[in-house]
Amino acid sequence: MITFLPLSLRGAAAAGSCRCLPSQECWPDAKTWESFNASVGGALIAAKPLGFPCHDPYFDENACKLVTENSGDPFWRSDQPSALQVPNMEMDGDKGCLLRGDRASECLQGAVPMYVVDVSTVSQVQKAVSFASQHNLRLVIKNSGHDMTGKNTAPGSLSIWVHHLKDITFSDKFHELADCHTGKNTPSVKVGAGVQWEEVYAAAHKNKRTVVGAQCVSVGAAGGYPQGGGHSQLSPSFGLAADNVLEYDVVTADGKLVVANSCQNKELFWALRGGGGGTFGVVTAVTYVAHPALTNLVFASYIITTGPNSTSSAFKDLLAKVISLNPSMADAGWGGFFIAAGKTLIAQYLLPNKDMAFAEKSLQPLLAYVEGWKNELVVVSGKIKEFSSYYEWHLENQCTNGKCGFPSGFSQLEASRLIPRTLAEKSPYKLAEALVSLGEMGFQRISGYLVGGGKVSKAQDNAVNPAWRNALLHVLYVRPFAENSTMETKSSLASEMSSGYKMLTDLTPGSGSYMNEANRNEPSWQQSFFGSNYDALKKIKDKVDPSGLFVCTHCVGSEDWSPDLNCRVSR
Ligand SMILES: Cc1cc2nc3c(=O)[nH]c(=O)nc-3n(C[C@H](O)[C@H](O)[C@H](O)COP(=O)(O)OP(=O)(O)OC[C@H]3O[C@@H](n4cnc5c(N)ncnc54)[C@H](O)[C@@H]3O)c2cc1C
Ligand SMILES: *[C@@H]1O[C@H](CO)[C@@H](O)[C@H](O)[C@H]1NC(C)=O
Ligand SMILES: *[C@@H]1O[C@H](CO)[C@@H](O)[C@H](O)[C@H]1NC(C)=O
Ligand SMILES: *[C@@H]1O[C@H](CO)[C@@H](O)[C@H](O)[C@H]1NC(C)=O
Repeated sequence: MITFLPLSLRGAAAAGSCRCLPSQECWPDAKTWESFNASVGGALIAAKPLGFPCHDPYFDENACKLVTENSGDPFWRSDQPSALQVPNMEMDGDKGCLLRGDRASECLQGAVPMYVVDVSTVSQVQKAVSFASQHNLRLVIKNSGHDMTGKNTAPGSLSIWVHHLKDITFSDKFHELADCHTGKNTPSVKVGAGVQWEEVYAAAHKNKRTVVGAQCVSVGAAGGYPQGGGHSQLSPSFGLAADNVLEYDVVTADGKLVVANSCQNKELFWALRGGGGGTFGVVTAVTYVAHPALTNLVFASYIITTGPNSTSSAFKDLLAKVISLNPSMADAGWGGFFIAAGKTLIAQYLLPNKDMAFAEKSLQPLLAYVEGWKNELVVVSGKIKEFSSYYEWHLENQCTNGKCGFPSGFSQLEASRLIPRTLAEKSPYKLAEALVSLGEMGFQRISGYLVGGGKVSKAQDNAVNPAWRNALLHVLYVRPFAENSTMETKSSLASEMSSGYKMLTDLTPGSGSYMNEANRNEPSWQQSFFGSNYDALKKIKDKVDPSGLFVCTHCVGSEDWSPDLNCRVSR
C-alpha cells in the first residue's frame, strides 16, 4: 500500500519514524564521519565518558587521577566535551561509567553522545545542524552542562558543544537604525553562546556595566539560562535575564543563521525568551541590556540557629517571619536566598542602588524579631556591608583562593516550585511548615530564592512562564545520592522527590515551576513550565522546526515523541 503524505508533512519526520542510532545500518560509516570532520575543520570528537581512563582495559592511572581530582570543579567539568554538572545525567538508566567504581567494572557510554562537535564558529554550527538533519541523527546541544534533567545529552547522539563560542562585546548603543527595536540606543552587550557568567561579570566590571545573570557563576550566559527565564539576585530590581534580552543570533533547523529581535523573526524572539533551551534552534549569541554599573550596593548575610532551650516552634516561626518579610524586601529591591538547613537558617541578600541606612531600616523588623526570641534564636553570624561594585562583592563573597562558584559533580535529584506572593503574604506559616517537613523527609539545600517580585512581577511580551509574574520565591530542594546507587534506590528517591513536591503543588495550585531547576518527573510539565504560553510556543516550534530536529526532555513539542525521544509518535 502506498500512503501519501500531505504536502505539509513532506520533509518532516512522520509519525512512527525514528532517529538513526549507532547500532543501525543507517548510521553514517567511518568515511562519512571523516569527511564531516574535515568539513568542520577537525572539530569532531569521539566522546568518551569522564570515567573512561579509570577502567580496564584502558586504565591510565594519571589520567584517572586527573579526572577524580577535578570532578568537583564546575569550570573543569564545563571544559570537558562529555561531562555534565550532575553526573547521574551522564548515565542511561543503570548504564554508565562510574568515576570511583571498581577498575574491573565495565565502562559504558551511557547517555554520553557518540560524537561532539567542538564548535568555535557559526559555520561549524550550521554544518553540524545540516549533517544531523541529513542523516536523521539525534541531535543535542551542550553548553555549561548545568541542566539537571538531562536535556543536554542523549544516548547515541551527536552533540553541538557551544562552550568555545566565547566572544563578549559591549556597545554604547543597540541598533540605532530601526524604530521598531525595543531597547533602541540602549547600551548593550553581545555574548557568545559559550560564555559563562564569571566571564561576563569580569568584563562588565571593566566596561562599567551591570548585566543581570546567575548567582552560580559557572552557568552559561547565553544558552539554557536566558532561554528558560534566568533568575538573578538582581531580578527584583532589573527583571529576569529573559526580560533583559534584546536579540538572539540563532541557527535554525534548516541550517540558516537568523537574527531574532523585536523587528524581525519576532515569534522566534518571543519563544527564545522563556520557551526553553534546546528547542527552537542553536543560539550562537545573545544581546543583553547593559545597565549602568552599580556603584552602591549593600550585602546582608546571616546565620541564625535555635538555642539549646528553644521550643519546637522557634525555627518554624523564624522561617515564617522571613517568608512574610520577603514581599517588602523585594519591593525595596533586595534579592537573594535563604536556606533552611536543619534548625539553622542561612540568609544572604543583596540590595542594589541603596545605602546602608536604607538597608538597615528595611532589615530592622527581622532583627527585632530574632531579638525578641531571646535565648531561643541565636545569631551565629551576622554581617551587613556596603560595596561599591557588583564585582567587588562577587570576589569577596563568591570566591575563595581565586576559585569561584559552587562545587559540582554530585549525583542528585532536584525539584522546585514558584511560590506566589499571595501565599507568602497570607500563609507564611504554611509554607514554613512545608519546608520544615521537606527537611524532615531528608531533603537538602531547602532554599527560598527571593528572585521574584519587584520588576519580575511586571508582565513582558515574551514567553516567560506567567507563573513568574505572580511569584515571589523560587523554592528548591535536592537529594544527593551515591553515583553507584542501584536503579531501585534511584527510583525510590525519585518517588520521594515527587511526594515532597506534591506538598508544594498542593499549597500552590495553578502556579508553576522553573523549568531550568525542575523535578525531572514533573507530572504536568506543559502547564508547570510554560503555563498559558504552551499552545503558542507549540505553534512556533512546529513552524521553525517542523521535523523536530531539536527534541529534549519536557521541552516544547516533546510530547510528540516516544519516552526515549527517538521516535515520532504524533504530530
Ligand atoms: C549549581 C547550579 C546553580 C544554578 N544557579 C542558577 C541561578 O542562579 N539562576 C538560574 O536561573 N538558574 C540557575 N541554575 C539553573 C540553570 O539556569 C540551568 O541549569 C540552565 O539550563 C543552564 O544553562 P546552560 O546553557 O549553562 O547549561 P546546559 O546544561 O549546557 O544547557 C541547558 C539547556 O539549554 C540548551 N542549550 C544550551 N546552550 C544552548 C544554545 N546555545 N542554544 C540552544 N539551546 C542551548 C541545552 O540543550 C539544554 O537543554 C543553576 C543550576 C545549577 C546546577
Ligand atoms: C577530526 O579531525 C582532527 C584533526 O585531523 C583529529 O584530531 C580528530 O581525531 C578527528 N576526529 C575524529 C572523531 O576522528
Ligand atoms: C536553658 O535552661 C536551663 C534549665 O532551665 C538553664 O539552666 C539554662 O541557663 C538555659 N540556657 C539558656 C541559654 O538560656
Ligand atoms: C558504592 O561505592 C562505595 C565507595 O565509594 C562502596 O563503599 C559501596 O559498597 C558501593 N555500593 C555498591 C552498591 O556498589
